This record gives sequence, structure tokens and C-alpha cells, in this order.
Amino acid sequence: MRIDIITVLPELLKSPFEASILKRSIEKGLVEVHFHNLRDYTDKSYNQIDDYQFGGGAGMVMMIEPIDKCISKLKGERTYDDVIYMTPDGSTLNQKMANTLSLSKNIIILCGHYKGVDQRVRDTLITKEISIGDYVLSGGELGAAVLCDTIIRLIPGVLNNETSALTDTFQDNLLAPPVYTRPAEYKGLKVPEILLNGNFPKIEKWREDQAYERTKQLRPDLLDND
Ligand code: ADE
Repeated sequence: MRIDIITVLPELLKSPFEASILKRSIEKGLVEVHFHNLRDYTDKSYNQIDDYQFGGGAGMVMMIEPIDKCISKLKGERTYDDVIYMTPDGSTLNQKMANTLSLSKNIIILCGHYKGVDQRVRDTLITKEISIGDYVLSGGELGAAVLCDTIIRLIPGVLNNETSALTDTFQDNLLAPPVYTRPAEYKGLKVPEILLNGNFPKIEKWREDQAYERTKQLRPDLLDND
């Protein structure tokens, strides 16, 4: 998979890709991530990429021309499954969207700033608008990092034990069951007996029941959606 990220702050975005799972997935060649500084695509003085909004009002708006130039250049080099715009008024990211996006070959992610982008960008160049939650960030960069993390970990070969992504919270609309490790008893706190007896069908059934009970208690809305 190849991910092209268009941003005015590439330096803000780089560090999440320089550690742990994301770093290893890039080193293994399972994913390529490229950063494009929008300021490289403007002819205006001071590398201007935003301007006042027509009709008046506070806040600057990102202009269509540099965004169009950058996206057109990329599209001239390969085809893209999606051009995604990170914005608080997009569809809220969930595991199902991540699963679908992880099957893409190439995607572009555009990070918004200020009051957002000229509406004509959204009308003509963007295929998906994604929010990472009902709150406003200073820009789309942190949202893009979250989106990339959730997609990349689903690419086959990225996680050492592939089944571990399949048993994540939210896969199957269920929260994950509780997990324990050594010691079996700590200051009188005991690990549930069933996990210690090696009866794997029973353990599996216990985990399923726990996942269901936790979801019913903590996130009943997930069961309603099912
Ligand atoms: N940009 C600003 N806020 C955002 C959010 N909640 N999700 C994605 N991009 C954003």
C-alpha cells in the first residue's frame, strides 16, 4: 500500500512513522508513506496557501490551486482508490472503515487547517471525508496519523501474529475480553481460574462471553448497531 499525505506541517507528521509497528511496516516494504508539503505547490509570494474567505468572516481558507496541483501531480503518476480529507465534519472513523481502507492500493490524505479548504476541493477532488471524533484539532495531521496507524496495522504481515488484529476490540462490534499475564496471583488478586486450566474450548467460550458482557455494560450502542 502507498499513502501520500498532503500537509502544511510535514514535520508534525513524521515522528509517528519513525517508531514501533509503523516504522517496521515501512522497513519491511509493506507500506510506503510519502509527505507532500503543500507550500511547494503555490506560486504565490511567501508560499501562501490560504486566503480570506469570500463574504467575510473570521479565519483563513485553504486555496484550491495548490491542492489541485499536488493531487493532479500524484494522480498523473498512479491511480488512487481514494482521496481522503481529514475534517471534523467528516464521517467518524471506526474499525469497519479502517478494515475497508486497509484493502486499498494507493490513497491520498489531505490535512486541513484554519477554517478548512475551499468547498470546491471537497466537491471535486475528495472522495471520502473522515473525522477522528467529535472535537476540533488544530489541523488534520494528528487525525491523519491516527487514520494511518489504524489502517497500516491491518495490512497482512504488519503484525507478527496476524490473528491479533482479528481479536482486537471493535472487530465484530465487540470490545475485547480482559487479558492477564504472570503472576497468577498478585497481592491476593487472582487470574480467573478458567484461564489456567488449559481447556482451550472452554477458554474460548469464556472469552466470547466476557466480550459480550463487557460490550453490553460499557458500549451497548455497539450491540444495537449489529
Ligand atoms: N481536523 C480538525 N479536527 C479534526 C477531527 N476531529 N478529525 C479529523 N480531522 C480534523
